[in-house]
Amino acid sequence: MTEKENEEVMPLLTPYNMGNFNLSHRIILAPLSRSRSYNFVAQPHAALYYSQRTTKGGFLIGEASGVSETAQGYPNTPGIWTREQVEGWKPIVSAVHEKGGTFFCQLWHAGRVSDHSFQPDGQAPISCTDKRIQKDISNSAAATNRYTPPRPLRTNEIPMIVNDFRIAAKNAIEAGFDGVEIHGANGYLLDQFLKDKVNDRDDEYGGNIQNRCRFPLQVVKAIVDEIGADKVGVRLSPFADYNDCGDSDPQALGIYMAQSLSQLGILYCHVIEPRMVTQFQKFDTKWSLMPIRKAFNGTFIVAGGYNRSEGNQVIASGDADLVAYGRLFLANPDLPTRFEVDAELNEPDPNTFYTHDPVIGYTDYPFLQSAS
Ligand code: PHB
Repeated sequence: MTEKENEEVMPLLTPYNMGNFNLSHRIILAPLSRSRSYNFVAQPHAALYYSQRTTKGGFLIGEASGVSETAQGYPNTPGIWTREQVEGWKPIVSAVHEKGGTFFCQLWHAGRVSDHSFQPDGQAPISCTDKRIQKDISNSAAATNRYTPPRPLRTNEIPMIVNDFRIAAKNAIEAGFDGVEIHGANGYLLDQFLKDKVNDRDDEYGGNIQNRCRFPLQVVKAIVDEIGADKVGVRLSPFADYNDCGDSDPQALGIYMAQSLSQLGILYCHVIEPRMVTQFQKFDTKWSLMPIRKAFNGTFIVAGGYNRSEGNQVIASGDADLVAYGRLFLANPDLPTRFEVDAELNEPDPNTFYTHDPVIGYTDYPFLQSAS
């Protein structure tokens, strides 16, 4: 195929019906923590950030939002458990809707990726285990010094955490979000239960795959019952061991989750590519997401270092329905337009990913027409 013919096809720019949501293209904003939500409340400047990245018919997933006062582990990430937090999100969601976007809220609990300074009354963070994280997502052993040894949840406490997720989902809908994505990836609380290198429980929430998946699936079921399966997605990273959270049989884990999520009838499954062994680099791997894709009936979203041509390929081959772009979308608010005309891309600046300025590294990446 010539370059010209390739341009004409542009699979990433074809429409796609994701359940009730009629998307005009396949380039979606990945959930990205931006650490600009002071005092855990999403701020007005986020309205500009998200609306810059909105296209008519585009799909955006919001940054990880804590579901309860025990859920936080980093400074200035938003929450969705208090009235003030729900009110904070409303104008942001409206700004996305005004431009014709579909916007989901990512629901998150950090679990042991936290320290006592983030916890009510300075308590220990909660997890499935009492094992302390040894290397966090930055892959730096030094950065993990701050993490406090976690406290394993008692069996009879788990329904309370399920309930926190349920209420957070209800709050997200009240804030105007079109749906929620449950964060089951990257070594945070739900992933801590899923993965056998962390989960060392001997109750019905530990041991075999079925038991390790029980709590995350109870969270999904509670949210499905609360807001409807047609508004629920789940993000998974079975192959990653970010935040010291790996599994000895990631493919079996991914397939079991995909089958169970299909039974619950959720809208989409969003999975991080096995090649993302570290956050920022792609590695060769023998693994593929295909068995997981085949085990899931709904919309399948892939993420993990995709560029324009890889995105077009994965859509054209049918291996995915949608592609989530993180760093490229962060640095290029008009990413779909840039892909359409095959324009040069702004380089993301990792130094400002998680800084707290309301403009710098956040809403000041130039659009195509203003790029020098
Ligand atoms: C992640 O999913 O990797 C993640 C979530 C929340 C953060 C940072 C990273 O604040």
